Amino acid sequence: MALLNDLHWRYATKKMNGQVVPQDKLDYILEAARLAPSSSGLQQYKLIVISDRALLEKIRTIAYNQSQITECSHLLIWAAWDGYNEDRISERFNEMMDLRGLPHGTMDAYKNTILELYKNAGPDWQAHHAAKQSYISFGLAIAAAAEQKVDATPMEGFLADQLDELLSLRKDGYRSTVILPLGYREEAGDWLVNMKKFRLSKDEFITEMTLADAADIKGTVSLDLNDFAQK
Ligand SMILES: Cc1cc2nc3c(=O)[nH]c(=O)nc-3n(C[C@H](O)[C@H](O)[C@H](O)COP(=O)(O)O)c2cc1C
Repeated sequence: MALLNDLHWRYATKKMNGQVVPQDKLDYILEAARLAPSSSGLQQYKLIVISDRALLEKIRTIAYNQSQITECSHLLIWAAWDGYNEDRISERFNEMMDLRGLPHGTMDAYKNTILELYKNAGPDWQAHHAAKQSYISFGLAIAAAAEQKVDATPMEGFLADQLDELLSLRKDGYRSTVILPLGYREEAGDWLVNMKKFRLSKDEFITEMTLADAADIKGTVSLDLNDFAQK
């Protein structure tokens, strides 16, 4: 219930008042972001935290001049891998095996399978796949901020190529995906603060399905499974 109340409280804050978010609240939000699950546990993205006012001024100019960028306390920027390769995946799995006291080769068969899958899917798919993982962390950070009564504005409204250049992300194989100013609402200047929250109704949003509803594809699925089983 507490989480639902927090999610009702939060909104995409349009104007912030410059008040600083205390370090313990910031740490809580960053920790929630760090604890996000990711595909194969690779955590194929990192999180950049910016409170330097001069840098925020520059970022605002490439974020459609959105005022929250300079009115916030801290700006969080998610940057995801631009693609997958053997070195990157091995490094992560080796760290995981070290932590769990297992030999480095433990995940080799799985690693080779996903490497092959990723290679066949191509570079655009790879960058997209890594970016999608970063959004899970982004979502948890939004929820954690709400729990801490810290306002936040989810943002895709920025020029990613220019942000990558400004922060020198590409040379390390990263691309910015999404950003989140954290701070406190300035109610007086915020047109959204008292607006009703718009969401689809439960009926529109949630569809319950049974196997009977999936009948159209049943034939295909069993055929595929049979093919697979024969190999
Ligand atoms: C991925 C993403 C990108 C968004 N980009 C922006 C943005 O650039 N600027 C902005 O003011 N709001 C942005 N929003 C806020 C949405 O418009 C807002 O979350 C949505 O209308 C739902 O309203 P609520 O967050 O107030 O509940 C973004 C939201 C998401 C999830």
